[in-house]
Amino acid sequence: MKKVKWGVIGAGGIADRRTLPGMMLANNAELVAVMEVNMELSEKLRAKYNAKRAYDNAQDLVNDPEVEAVYIASPVGCHLEQIIAAAKAKKHVLAEKPIAMTVEDAEKALAVCNENGVLSASGFMMRYHAYHQKMKEFIAEGNLGDIVSCRGQLTCWYPPIENAWRQKKELSGGGALIDMGIHCIDLIEYITGQKTVKVSAFNDTLTHNYNVDDSSNVILKLSGGAHAYVDSNFNLPDAAAKCRLEFYGTRGSILAEGTIGQVEGGKVSVVIAGEAGYDAAQNRVDVTPIEFNVEFGNMYTKEIESFSNSILNGTPVEVPMSDAIWMQKVIEAAYRASDEEKVITL
Ligand SMILES: NC(=O)c1ccc[n+]([C@@H]2O[C@H](COP(=O)([O-])OP(=O)(O)OC[C@H]3O[C@@H](n4cnc5c(N)ncnc54)[C@H](O)[C@@H]3O)[C@@H](O)[C@H]2O)c1
Repeated sequence: MKKVKWGVIGAGGIADRRTLPGMMLANNAELVAVMEVNMELSEKLRAKYNAKRAYDNAQDLVNDPEVEAVYIASPVGCHLEQIIAAAKAKKHVLAEKPIAMTVEDAEKALAVCNENGVLSASGFMMRYHAYHQKMKEFIAEGNLGDIVSCRGQLTCWYPPIENAWRQKKELSGGGALIDMGIHCIDLIEYITGQKTVKVSAFNDTLTHNYNVDDSSNVILKLSGGAHAYVDSNFNLPDAAAKCRLEFYGTRGSILAEGTIGQVEGGKVSVVIAGEAGYDAAQNRVDVTPIEFNVEFGNMYTKEIESFSNSILNGTPVEVPMSDAIWMQKVIEAAYRASDEEKVITL
């Protein structure tokens, strides 16, 4: 099988933790080059993943004639310049979320990709989770009736760490919401097939001594009328939260724990109660939950295979960069809603 030749910029973070191991399992991708900020780390990663070349400069990696597609997993503040450099060198671009520091910059990045005729995708890899795809299909079939309420939660314990770019607004664009809540909102829109139309939020720094939000609670009104609640925190012990994803409709619910995360797994229970009768006494009748029958894989492998397939065979890009720009608009609105204490209409 023909393989896309990949280069990776910012190879030492999530790339090393998840995406490169995932890429190694992809049947249509080959790692050619890696780039890190110092040559020692770059060379270590080159050897670890058996790449041909190591660079310590992003421009050199995009100039590598053998590289066809670039995965950008550097700190957010570096994305814009690196996406533009890759696109101008005629390399297809898969950029991690958020695409850039602001909607304006993200739109600039996409425009340069389009002007140079390269494909562009974003790193919302949780859409490839087998449970999430099954939930989308199940809801689209009407099994839950009208969706009226949704919840997405993603948290971690993230104390102050010296020189952590995520903890500096000028380098990250924001905190728990733009870093973690963004996945939840994207998943809720993806799974329900509904877009955000109104946003209200409280985003605060309640616990840690840094200038980004460690506590974010967002309420969305979706285009089909459903309400959604998204909570993301940097100040909860990892064991204290289950990263829930919940969908409630007029006929039943889907309740998931631990499907939002970096490993394809978790638990899902589905309750279909059918047409509900009114019971003034509110006696709840237990309905035996059903389970989805799915096969787990590696979300990062699927992400790389999908974009490689678009490059090789012209299949539509499954998670286009334009979707990430939309998500960034929702996030910016949520920050503004909190700052200005009002409901923002998109
Ligand atoms: N989809 C996911 O599962 C997922 C998970 C975590 C992070 N992310 C995203 O990936 C990106 C990176 O986050 P991270 O957690 O890997 O951060 P990180 O700090 O762990 O890793 C970033 C890497 O980029 C390198 N770097 C620093 N400056 C650079 C530059 N100018 N050019 C190239 N590389 C540079 C660093 O040395 C580091 O190895 C962010 O956009 C983040 O939101 C995505």
